[in-house]
Amino acid sequence: MSRLSGHAALVTGAGGGIGRAIALRLAAEGARVAVNDLRAEAAQSVAGEIAAAGGSAIAAPGDVSREADIDAMFAAAEAAWGRVTLLVNNAGFLQQRPFTDITPADWDRMIAVHLRGCFLGCRRAVPSMLAAGSGVIVNIASQLGQIGAVELAHYAAAKAGIIGLTKSLARELSKRGVRVNAVAPGPINTELVLGLSEAWRAAKAAELPLGRFGEPEDVAATVAFLASEDARIYVGQTLGPNSGDVML
Ligand SMILES: NC(=O)c1ccc[n+]([C@@H]2O[C@H](COP(=O)([O-])OP(=O)(O)OC[C@H]3O[C@@H](n4cnc5c(N)ncnc54)[C@H](O)[C@@H]3O)[C@@H](O)[C@H]2O)c1
Repeated sequence: MSRLSGHAALVTGAGGGIGRAIALRLAAEGARVAVNDLRAEAAQSVAGEIAAAGGSAIAAPGDVSREADIDAMFAAAEAAWGRVTLLVNNAGFLQQRPFTDITPADWDRMIAVHLRGCFLGCRRAVPSMLAAGSGVIVNIASQLGQIGAVELAHYAAAKAGIIGLTKSLARELSKRGVRVNAVAPGPINTELVLGLSEAWRAAKAAELPLGRFGEPEDVAATVAFLASEDARIYVGQTLGPNSGDVML
């Protein structure tokens, strides 16, 4: 497969889970991939996996909520490949809290990593994409940003913000060659979801039309599609690899 050859991608939060699967899939389809993660050794390990499979990758560690770190990860990719043509904003975390227990610090960190991180990544990527007249951005939201969630108000609000940001950038940038879309996964088998109780996971799986959670590779396939020319008509959309949980 070489649907993405020619792309120089940056995938945030790609040291594990969905981001790792995205990085591996983009590389398998021909993209060169800068692997970001807060955990430097995890980013290095995924970059090593890609290289071992014959792909081209670098590790670009850093915290997406910090402007200086965003700049450093882009600079690393630019030093290797000239520019970033494909940005996947995926880094994130989950924190389950009854609304009355969410502190301002909890709120700020949630918004900082998800929404500010996504903003900072787009802000750093877009000028060179506009200058080149081409570029693709895929933002990883969540179906909880579409329907809300009990004990995840800050998470759902951050993800809803990412969907609004995606639509706005799509409206503003599409005619100038930059295509922006979002992915809103349902429950996917990663560490993030394994942190929730087994009882919750069993009940949740039972209520899904498909009867089971998705795998990181299912989300990666959606991202690879959106990144490719196969999706050239997709603008400002939010695709839902979600086992049928949310149908819009
Ligand atoms: N797993 C699901 O069911 C699910 C569903 C919908 C959306 N999502 C979203 O998908 C994305 C990936 O989630 P996942 O399930 O793979 O989680 P995960 O915990 O397995 O992986 C997240 C990765 O992001 C990294 N990370 C966290 N904060 C970071 C930061 N500030 N800067 C850089 N990297 C950071 C972590 O180190 C980790 O490697 C998240 O945005 C999450 O909200 C997940």
